[in-house]
Amino acid sequence: MKKILLSLSIVIWLALAWGCAASDPHVQKLARGKYLIENVGMCADCHTPRTQRGELDLARSLQGSPLSIAPTVPMPWAQAAPAIAGLPSLTEAEAAKFLQTGDLPAGRHVRPPMPPFRLSREDAEAVAAYLKTLGSKQS
Ligand code: HEC
Repeated sequence: MKKILLSLSIVIWLALAWGCAASDPHVQKLARGKYLIENVGMCADCHTPRTQRGELDLARSLQGSPLSIAPTVPMPWAQAAPAIAGLPSLTEAEAAKFLQTGDLPAGRHVRPPMPPFRLSREDAEAVAAYLKTLGSKQS
């Protein structure tokens, strides 16, 4: 009987802990950011390097990559997508502002093919917060 009560209380405790984690606003914000990065913005297409077979090198996810695409007419164009995992060159607030306006700090303008996203403040902050949690470039 004691064992049954003990297992029952463990199950209830785990269910409560899981319920709290799932409804924690910070956990939800990070999940939203991950979803926007991986399923909507497709950031990895440019920001993750590829293996020699042309597949995304997931061990170096969002750690910056030369671009394998080029425009067919002359236009401003970046040759590489910088590392964004861990936000090595922007603060979280700067990244969130950039994702809402397309404006980088100190009047820096981002070049194509980086899309000048106009995310809502909530979405931009979620993306920036999730990027901040990712490990930045390893050597
Ligand atoms: C089609 C390719 C492409 C996609 C898709 C893309 N990016 Fe970029 N991104 C770039 C390039 C190229 C640059 C560098 C532009 C430059 O140097 O002017 C850049 C720059 C940035 C920067 C500025 C970094 C810095 O240090 O200056 C951030 C932040 C960024 N991207 C975030 C994202 C996020 C978040 C997503 C997905 C929601 C995304 N990018 C999707 C190509 C892309």
